[in-house]
Amino acid sequence: MSTVLALETSCDETAVAIVKNRQVCSSIVNSQIAIHSQYGGVVPEAASRQHLEIINHGIELALTQANLTWQEIDGIAATCAPGLVGALLVGVTAAKTLAIVQQKPFIGVHHLEGHIYANYLSEPSLEPPFLSLLVSGGHTSLIYVKDCGVYETLGETRDDAAGEAFDKVARLLKLGYPGGPVIDKLAQLGNAQAFSLPEGNVSQPSGGYHPYDSSFSGLKTAVLRLVQQLEKERQLPVEDVAASFQASVARSLTKRAIACARDYNLNTIAVGGGVAANSGLRHHLTTAASAHNLRVLFPPLKFCTDNAAMIGCAAAEHLDRGHTSPLNLGVQSRLTL
Ligand code: KG4
Ligand code: ZN
Repeated sequence: MSTVLALETSCDETAVAIVKNRQVCSSIVNSQIAIHSQYGGVVPEAASRQHLEIINHGIELALTQANLTWQEIDGIAATCAPGLVGALLVGVTAAKTLAIVQQKPFIGVHHLEGHIYANYLSEPSLEPPFLSLLVSGGHTSLIYVKDCGVYETLGETRDDAAGEAFDKVARLLKLGYPGGPVIDKLAQLGNAQAFSLPEGNVSQPSGGYHPYDSSFSGLKTAVLRLVQQLEKERQLPVEDVAASFQASVARSLTKRAIACARDYNLNTIAVGGGVAANSGLRHHLTTAASAHNLRVLFPPLKFCTDNAAMIGCAAAEHLDRGHTSPLNLGVQSRLTL
């Protein structure tokens, strides 16, 4: 049973948490949305500076809220890839420094492994094998989780990630950044059958389509054309557009996840990443899974989007198994799981 202090600074949240295996002792997330939303997206330089300014305070706060001392911490973890290099460096350098000063092991964690581990926080009895559907601002992946650290990616997006599609569609509807939560709210007021939008199948060279890969760029272009047409007609029912778009994403992800779980004989689908917070996806996938006798897990909303508790949970399991990282471990903007 390891207790880990973890840092997550891969993008625009400065997060610190203390986790005792699958139990969260404290979790602090400082969102930078207010800073970046005025630019319509994340500004990497501003993100690094903000992480640097508040990370020390976050660490102190996490220890106070958990009511723990450094003696009770077994290891220090940080997200080391993928993400914005300058932003990742702040968390990794802080974690390595603490590891040296406090004489504790350092554990570098892959961000996507963290999103997978978010499911263990709400379902501590979960054990591999299971299928993970990871849907975030940078990824749309179907991952066969075989064991701690043993993953096989079965499907990916060929272009935009699911969250990226939400953000781009929100931008063209002039709804601001990040787009997912706003579209989700509007979609709940609209009619999902109002417009018929494509699902984005990916063709295979041998014919037919790739059953587990997704593509959202065609859908995004279809929404753009629809919006241009509706604006010409001087009637833009934003709620109906949002609902139709969201339903198309939810249908497409659901179809792929169910097919993949069935083909690989996996009876649990554990969803993770910011888009796991989406009400349309939650509804579609839960309904379809129960029709196929599959179990679906969604982490609570606060552990769907970026947080350090998920990183601590992954690190604690690695530490229990004796996996630690060298102090010269680098950060990487791209890295497959
Ligand atoms: O996992 P995350 O916090 O960061 C990355 O690792 O990318 O995911 C952020 C993404 C953004 O694209 C955001 O628009 C999307 O998750 N998102 C949502 C919702 N909440 C956040 N997308 C759809 N519906 C939501 N409720
Ligand atoms: Zn993430």
